[in-house]
Amino acid sequence: MRWRRNHLLITCALLACVGSGPVSADGAALYTTHCVACHQPDGNGAEGLAPPVAGVLGKLAGVPGGREYLAQVMVSGMVGKITSRGVKYDGSMPAVALTDEEMASVMGYVLSTFNASSEEIPAALFAKARGKRMQPAAVRKQRERIRAEVGE
Ligand code: HEC
Repeated sequence: MRWRRNHLLITCALLACVGSGPVSADGAALYTTHCVACHQPDGNGAEGLAPPVAGVLGKLAGVPGGREYLAQVMVSGMVGKITSRGVKYDGSMPAVALTDEEMASVMGYVLSTFNASSEEIPAALFAKARGKRMQPAAVRKQRERIRAEVGE
């Protein structure tokens, strides 16, 4: 009995370490390390380099197809001509090398901080996207389809 109780305490202590929620503080740190060089500290991107991740993802995050797209961009990357907020980009986003949980965390940060969205993309959706990775050029087509659907 005593062993069981100790075991429970240890388990709880471990959970307290890692269980700080999907939008944990390290979403910001992950953004700084893995995204900021291209998408910039304010999320507005830079012409000729990378499109904004600010103010353009809210509608996408609000529909299942859009959440799938956002997971797929992270997992597979994206290449080819796109337009965002009226500006043309022709760049390449490399597949992101983070765990599903880290991807959920950094995407939660991007959505809440730069898009006033309370949507979250759960780690399971990144795992699912990983299971059906796409060519980066095909991700661009998926973007076009889903943006037309949500009227972005
Ligand atoms: C090396 C530069 C680079 C890095 C690092 C990078 N991105 Fe990107 N990202 C891009 C480019 C370039 C595109 C657009 C690709 C295209 O033109 O087809 C893009 C597109 C996106 C899009 C789609 C935007 C839209 O309008 O549909 C999202 C979301 C995104 N990035 C999030 C992230 C996040 C989050 C990180 C960090 C984990 C990250 N990116 C890291 C360059 C980068």
